Formats: sequence, C-alpha cells, structure tokens
Amino acid sequence: MGVEAKIAPSMLSSDFANLASEAQRMLDCGADWLHMDIMDGYNLNYCLLHKPHFVPNLTIGAPVIESLRKHTKAYLDCHLMVTNPLDYVEPLGKAGASGFTFHVEVSRDNWGELVQRIKSKGMRPGVSLKPGTPIEEVYPLVEGEYPVEMVLVMTVEPGFGGQKFMPETMDKVRALRKKYPSLDIEVDGGLGPSTIDMAASAGANCIVAGSSVFGAPDSAQVISLS
Ligand code: DX5
Ligand code: ZN
Repeated sequence: MGVEAKIAPSMLSSDFANLASEAQRMLDCGADWLHMDIMDGYNLNYCLLHKPHFVPNLTIGAPVIESLRKHTKAYLDCHLMVTNPLDYVEPLGKAGASGFTFHVEVSRDNWGELVQRIKSKGMRPGVSLKPGTPIEEVYPLVEGEYPVEMVLVMTVEPGFGGQKFMPETMDKVRALRKKYPSLDIEVDGGLGPSTIDMAASAGANCIVAGSSVFGAPDSAQVISLS
C-alpha cells in the first residue's frame, strides 16, 4: 500500500431508514469521512431528448444532509452527481455539508464561479470525473486561481453502488499523483479488499467504499484495510 489513506464509507449502501445510527456505526468502525452521494435521477426516455439529469438514480439532497448534520460532527463528503451543481451550493452549505465535489463534465463553463461559491459557503471544493473523461480536463481546476482541493477519480460509471472496479482508471490516478504530490485524490466505485491496495499504490489517499463495507460481516475490518 502507498500513503496512509482516509476511508469514506458511501452511505448510499447504508440503511437510509436508520441513517444516523448507520453513520455512527461507520465512525465507530474507524471511518474518517462519510461519503454522501447526491444524485438527480433521470427518466431514460425523457433524457434521450433533453438530457436534464446526470445519472439514472435519485438519492438524497440537502434536507437529508441537514437532518444527518444534527446527529454528527463528522466530515460529510458530498459527491454531486447532478447537472446543475451551482443550484446546490447554497442549500448544501446551509445544511452543513463539509466537502462539495462536482463533476467536471457539467461545469466546463462555470467552474471558477462554482469553486468560489463553494468556498464562500465554508465547504471544501472538489472535482470529479467519469471513467471516460480525460484527466487533463481537471488540471486547470487544480492549478486555477480558485483551485479545487480534491480530485475524485470515478472508478465506475456514476449512478449506482455495487459495480465492478475499472482498473484502467488507475492511469489517471498515477498521472495526477505524479503531477500533484500533495493533492487529495479520492477514488470511488468498486473499492474493497481486492482493489484498495491497487488504488492506494497508484496514489489515491481517500478511498470511498460502499457495498464492500456495508456488505461485510465485519465492516471495521474492511475499513482498517485503507
Ligand atoms: C456511485 C457512487 C459511489 C458508490 C460506491 O455513483 O458515487 O459512491 O456508492 O459504491 P460501491 O463501493 O458499492 O461501488
Ligand atoms: Zn460517490
């Protein structure tokens, strides 16, 4: 394994009906952050025409973050899989989100404004990219006047937990780590006992893990692997 990594269980795999106790259980098991997947859901037929949404799943939004915040002081690492992240800055800031990671694919025209707004609401800005998006697309955001503080490299197509890790995405992690030795690099999707080492040795230092942690008989043991 490479550097000591943070682990962020993806609450998407938790029992949403018991979110506060699931969050506390993860923290008791050694989690560093709680990863919150905010998705905007689409109806495929409608989307083919209008593309109004980012992923075919609908999860949680600011009201749930606000509720959870009342039960925990933990770092809430919010991953925005939505087409209009700017609209979520104010409500998530008010709700008590800690990190705000948006997708570069939907922010090519306004990422500077987005990063400034995120910071002005007291959140930590991050940018994510889908498996098919070239890593070069995020370089300007890391090097800009208002830089992001984390890059989240998706290791599956965004939308659902429980998918298979895509090892080819590790080239992007390696390229990023080489260029930015102290940048926070997060990986998300299909991470578990058989893939965490690969991601950490490529240079990732923040590991998101959903089904492998929640589905394990001993979640603390999986968390300890990072
Ligand atoms: C996928 C989400 C992930 C997902 C990870 O779109 O961003 O955070 O919940 O789940 P696993 O670890 O099960 O792939
Ligand atoms: Zn995620």
